[in-house]
Amino acid sequence: MSMRLQLNLLVASLIAVFTAVVLAFKVIDTRRSVREETEAANKVATQLLEYFVETYAQTSRPIVLHSLERLGRVRSTEIVLRDADGTAVYHSPPSPYKAGRDAPAWYAALVAPQPMRKELRFADSVLEIESNASRAVLDGWDDTLRLLQVGAFAMLLGNLLVFWLVRRMTRPFRSIVRGLEDMQAGAYHTRLPEFAGAEAASIARAFNRSAQAIEDNLDARREAIEATLRLQQSRELAAAVQSRVEDERRQIARELHDETGQGITAIRSLAQVLLQRAGDPSAREAAQLIADTAARLYDATHALIPRLRPPSLDARDLAAAIEDALVAWRREQPRVTFAFAGGDLPESLGENHVLAAYRIVQEAVTNALRHAQAQRIDISVGFVEGALEVEVSDDGRGLAADWRRPGHYGVRGMDERAQALGGAVEVADRDGGGVRVRARLPLA
Ligand SMILES: Nc1ncnc2c1ncn2[C@@H]1O[C@H](COP(=O)(O)OP(=O)(O)OP(=O)(O)O)[C@@H](O)[C@H]1O
Ligand SMILES: [Mg+2]
Repeated sequence: MSMRLQLNLLVASLIAVFTAVVLAFKVIDTRRSVREETEAANKVATQLLEYFVETYAQTSRPIVLHSLERLGRVRSTEIVLRDADGTAVYHSPPSPYKAGRDAPAWYAALVAPQPMRKELRFADSVLEIESNASRAVLDGWDDTLRLLQVGAFAMLLGNLLVFWLVRRMTRPFRSIVRGLEDMQAGAYHTRLPEFAGAEAASIARAFNRSAQAIEDNLDARREAIEATLRLQQSRELAAAVQSRVEDERRQIARELHDETGQGITAIRSLAQVLLQRAGDPSAREAAQLIADTAARLYDATHALIPRLRPPSLDARDLAAAIEDALVAWRREQPRVTFAFAGGDLPESLGENHVLAAYRIVQEAVTNALRHAQAQRIDISVGFVEGALEVEVSDDGRGLAADWRRPGHYGVRGMDERAQALGGAVEVADRDGGGVRVRARLPLA
């Protein structure tokens, strides 16, 4: 049942109960007033006629008759004059008041008092005086009808008022329901207007606050997803770039070995042939110079090859690749002590893991040599709890306050290599001074 119908029924019932109570009081009141009026009228008529009868008892009936006709109608009283054999010779005229109309019999039975009757005998006649409350009862009935009409009108008016009020009060609810449906359909920008009523206005404000919170939340989530996607994409890009760089290095190393190395060897051989065959001492000297330069160039080229791409990397031998690099570092930095501990490593290390670990060691050692002025550098690789762990620590001057400043890519590169394998890199100052770089590369 709708709220409007319930309110209408409530108002109708209240008005009906109120009208019924008023009607009940009205009936009680009418009964009392009818009795009082009838008794009073009857009393007056009886006293008057008793006086009449006493005065004119000895006189003839025509005088009484004449007096009765002059008296005419007495309210609420019927007067009948009968002769000796009971024939009515006079009957008071009917009341002209609301002539021709009577209250319904059930109503009259409800409010009319018991009729009062009095007989006055004189000479050969009888004067009958009887109360008749029909006019007073009709007055009461008319009042009751008017009351019923007022009640019906009040009921109609009350219900119309309730109907209009409820319609006006529930108008915001339709907008609220529509707003909720819109939100359910995904239109989170939906907002409700400022409604007139205090309750509806506070509901609208709460609705708008919730909608704003949902929208903010969704925006934040969308931004987080976009940021994650961007990060993912940039990681993939970094991994692709690194793999391309590795390919290029491998190719350049191969070219250096196969093309440049072979070419230099050919130049050197030709210079030696020239050296043996040339008769002119200055030509032999030039040939010797070419042969020596070619020999130095060959050594330099060969030294470059393992730097670009240590051959042990192709064999996926991480420890051997680091040992190869150490040979070069020790030669270049004779004052620095290098220590390497290669723990037990699984045989089946993937190329990506070997490459990432090697490049991280390479960058960490390069950083220690460049920035730390270290006297000692310790390198270790091992297999700890399902991950390849790489650690490089030095005894240098430690990290500067602004070591994360932009424009430096080594640490970031290490980080990206580790993250691409689901791992992480930690660069931090050591307790006793210097820096420790620790990378964890999960194998799963
Ligand atoms: N072992 C270390 N000791 C002291 N400071 C270090 C060490 N390793 C890194 N840093 C500091 O961290 C900074 C960032 O290192 P990162 O490798 O990212 O850049 P970079 O070495 O300066 O330049 P590049 O991009 O060529 O690697 C360095 O500039 C340096 O200040
Ligand atoms: Mg660096």
